[in-house]
Amino acid sequence: MARVARHAVTRLRFLITAGPTREYIDPVRFLSNDSSGRMGFAIAAAAGRRGHRVTLVHGPVALAVPAGVQSVAVVSADEMARACEVEWARADVLIMSAAVADYSVVRRSRSKLKKSARLLTLRLRPTPDILAALARKRRDDQTVVGFALESHDGRRNAESKLSRKKLDAIVLNSAAAMGADGSRVEVLTRDGVWRCLPAQRKSQTAGWLVRFAERLHTAR
Ligand code: CTP
Repeated sequence: MARVARHAVTRLRFLITAGPTREYIDPVRFLSNDSSGRMGFAIAAAAGRRGHRVTLVHGPVALAVPAGVQSVAVVSADEMARACEVEWARADVLIMSAAVADYSVVRRSRSKLKKSARLLTLRLRPTPDILAALARKRRDDQTVVGFALESHDGRRNAESKLSRKKLDAIVLNSAAAMGADGSRVEVLTRDGVWRCLPAQRKSQTAGWLVRFAERLHTAR
């Protein structure tokens, strides 16, 4: 049974996404990324411990769903978009930590592609931007927190994602955080203020992020 926070906080509905998505090229091969899902699962566990109702929409990962958390397992970006759309209608706070694959193949082969000596060109189309779509259709009483995974120009790219995707806050992560036990994140809000968290385990960052999202939501 999930441990519940001793001091009452307003019980919110959290929608949390985690892990990678996969875009299949043929029945056995796919485009994806190195995300382990640990950050999102840690956030879901932390939100559950604070007494919130949590729905975790996650891609293919090798992690156990935290006790007391409702989960929806998906594979592709399209599936994640559909699952999130259904859940978003009744959620208060979205924390979008999933590493959504940015492209899918225009034509997925129904049979396994055979190898040949010739160059192979795959035609790719962008997947839907789930976060931007959910933020666009949000009600005034909903809070949206996104992630930015950057290998360079982190703050500048995160600032641009915050305003382009119309977020309340964005969590800047470096590529080194992927699959690791710990990370060092920075968080930007719409007022232009950056908060720098120390390098620490993802479970500690997750606890901070949940309390931060509660405050952000209450201050709306
Ligand atoms: N995201 C999303 N749908 C996508 C791509 C990203 O919802 N198709 C979300 C991620 O979950 C994250 C945020 O958008 O919360 C930023 O993701 P990131 O991969 O850092 O950036 P992109 O928008 O994909 O842009 P780029 O790859 O050019 O950095």
